[in-house]
Amino acid sequence: MSAKIISGTEVAKAIREELKVEVTELVEKHGITPGLVTILVGEDPASQSYVAAKNKTAHALGIHSEQVTLAADTTEADLLTLVDKYNKDAKIHGILVQLPLPKHINEANVLYAINPDKDVDGFHPVNVGKMVLGEQCFLPCTPHGILELLVRSGVQTSGAEVVVIGRSNIVGKPIANLMLQKRAGGNATVTLCHTRTKDMAAHCRRADILIAAVGVPKMVTADMVKEGVAIIDVGVNRIGMTEAGKAILAGDVDFESVKEKASCITPVPGGVGPMTITMLMKNTVQAAKIAAKLI
Ligand code: GUN
Repeated sequence: MSAKIISGTEVAKAIREELKVEVTELVEKHGITPGLVTILVGEDPASQSYVAAKNKTAHALGIHSEQVTLAADTTEADLLTLVDKYNKDAKIHGILVQLPLPKHINEANVLYAINPDKDVDGFHPVNVGKMVLGEQCFLPCTPHGILELLVRSGVQTSGAEVVVIGRSNIVGKPIANLMLQKRAGGNATVTLCHTRTKDMAAHCRRADILIAAVGVPKMVTADMVKEGVAIIDVGVNRIGMTEAGKAILAGDVDFESVKEKASCITPVPGGVGPMTITMLMKNTVQAAKIAAKLI
């Protein structure tokens, strides 16, 4: 069997078309333009390209977007002052501080300083707590994107054995939590594997849906999966450079061998990545609607 490719690019395109309509309606009926600020500290090339993609998508959807780039030696105090400025800026409905931050800045201090109503990343503890409780909140963008991909691709999650590899705050912990909840894309039996898991391969082979979010290129190999598994590959690993200076990317899954056993699989690039950016836009539009008391 060769797997069906789950195109995040295509699903993201469909959601962006829906968002364009929502933004136009907000502007024309209510005089509100959703606003997003992205804040990048330092010059990490991967972060630079993510932030650029987020701003480009915002522009394409009619979302007002501001991009602030700060020097790598910016102090935590200066960053907190900037966050506070945007907390008070009525044109801005969503604030995104790109992670990771330089080592001298305490990430938690910065994330906790963002007004939870503008926390379109869903990283503030108020939103994390609401997510765990299954309450209305901003869902973190990558897990939110994975849920949408699964639902819109018709992957049955109810009753499924889901194995997540990786326990990060950004992906592993939230997607494991969301998929066990009573919700669309949920109702699964979830196992969360990590660096101390004994016999990872044995867990993976039980999975009906395998979600890899480890940051190790091609770690999941064909011998680790069962026939017919649905694979969501969250990894974006730079494994080299083309002669033209473009990064060569690989996922956490050995795509070529695993696609012969899987029923469906997300590619890298073009899988989860475009969904993450799209869900950031969805959260920004939601934040603008909440600020205007439209929802
Ligand atoms: N770094 C990697 N993924 C993310 C994300 O979803 N949001 C932010 N702010 N930083 C990231």
